Amino acid sequence: MNHFLDIHETDPTALREIIDSAAAMKAARQGRPKGALDDEQPLKDQMVALIFEKPSTRTRVSFDVGVRQMGGQTMVLSGADMQLGHGETIADTARVLSRYVDMIMIRTFEEQTLVEMAEHATVPVINGLTNRTHPCQIMADIQTFEEHRGPIKGRKVVWSGDGNNVFASLAHAAKQFDFDLTFTGPPPLDPEGALDGLYTIERDPQKAVEGADLVVTDTWVSMHDPQSARERRHNQLRGYQVNDALMARAKPDSLFMHCLPAHRDDEATSSVMDGPHSVIFDEAENRLHAQKAIMRWCLGA
Ligand code: CP
Ligand code: NVA
Repeated sequence: MNHFLDIHETDPTALREIIDSAAAMKAARQGRPKGALDDEQPLKDQMVALIFEKPSTRTRVSFDVGVRQMGGQTMVLSGADMQLGHGETIADTARVLSRYVDMIMIRTFEEQTLVEMAEHATVPVINGLTNRTHPCQIMADIQTFEEHRGPIKGRKVVWSGDGNNVFASLAHAAKQFDFDLTFTGPPPLDPEGALDGLYTIERDPQKAVEGADLVVTDTWVSMHDPQSARERRHNQLRGYQVNDALMARAKPDSLFMHCLPAHRDDEATSSVMDGPHSVIFDEAENRLHAQKAIMRWCLGA
């Protein structure tokens, strides 16, 4: 069994297999109703716990649907309703859940919660977002890029905005999938130091996007950020909005991605989100396919 905790902790060969398997499973389902079972049932008789300590639309629904399509069953648990949210240790929670379920997906705050869960669980644990990373999102993004434009290896990817958890997983992917990553944003919102060496910085967003094959952004205020930071962040990030003028500086066939949920006309204009470069809804759909491939890899199924 394998945990899927972070892209930089996963072997590049396994990552490539996951992307290829996601694409194949997506192709095999074309035109079928969402509730139809896959031809293969690799999760038959498997029970999967989906734990959420933060809100979610895409992660929650895509994992739930994905498990069911592969023949398994799910239970969606809110962290606040579990004893975990009332003082029971993560280690004890992991040991107990491992007696009931075959796999655990958790969305949490501190990375340490995920790490401890994986240390003490005897079943695979999947990272459904922490304050530091969001690896399932980036696997879906790689799948999305490649289905539109071919191999991502050697391409130029530009992130404009906050150096947050989604950026961190993109930086890990830049190393594992061998693409060039540029960060453009204001110094107070630089990515954490542990990511140094995985990307280059260009403070001027207009210069940063020159020659870009892919432009990516995310919300200016993440779920773990204090809401009191909102006004300050808007002032810091306004110049990094992805708008038509910025996209016009990238390659003519560049793609635009956003993991969603978006604050339309803040980090990106609706004209870009709904425009010809945007693949945001393919990205959202590919969460389903990429995570199905991740779950199969975790279970060796
Ligand atoms: N992109 C993403 O993880 O969305 P949710 O917060 O809706 O799960
Ligand atoms: N950076 C965002 C991503 C949401 C999917 C957050 O952590 O809130």
